[in-house]
Amino acid sequence: MRPDKTRLRFVVNGQAVEALIDGYKTLLEVLREDLQLTGTKHGCELGECGACAVLLDGEPVLSCLALALECDAREVTTVEGLAEHGRLHALQESFADLGAAQCGYCTPGFLVTAKALLDREPRPSRERIREALAGNLCRCTGYQQIVEAVEAAAARLDRRAPADDAMAVEGGAASADLEEPGS
Ligand code: FES
Ligand code: FES
Repeated sequence: MRPDKTRLRFVVNGQAVEALIDGYKTLLEVLREDLQLTGTKHGCELGECGACAVLLDGEPVLSCLALALECDAREVTTVEGLAEHGRLHALQESFADLGAAQCGYCTPGFLVTAKALLDREPRPSRERIREALAGNLCRCTGYQQIVEAVEAAAARLDRRAPADDAMAVEGGAASADLEEPGS
């Protein structure tokens, strides 16, 4: 091992990962530069925009402010880890359907932050959604569609039956579950 490198072992999107990294690197830098997981975005690097948000042991963190070595033996989820069994997460489907992503630069941060919220609170109020997403900035959407997409995803997750997941495994990305709540 090169003396200036440090070994990092952690779990990323469900996979055990071992990497030799520069000890000064942030989690954002290791994800993007060492692991080529470029879904997590590089924004302000000051903890102010939320574009770099990922989940660390299920809780949202700003990866631009976290040293990668702090994540040793822990579990990181990035936007690349949201889809399961060839099927987009309900949040991803709702963001696409409701126009909650325009340029898309902020979207990975919103998606992982919203996932943490829905994992904790399956049917959050509109106020709770706004509170949870207060650290994520978007220059394009005006936020209304994002809040509506999180509400729609919560409803969609409620409706997703185990049988739907089995269909998705067999048939890849499912399109049969794309109707909107109340339609
Ligand atoms: S890049 Fe991390 S908060 Fe902006
Ligand atoms: S969609 Fe462009 S910054 Fe949010």
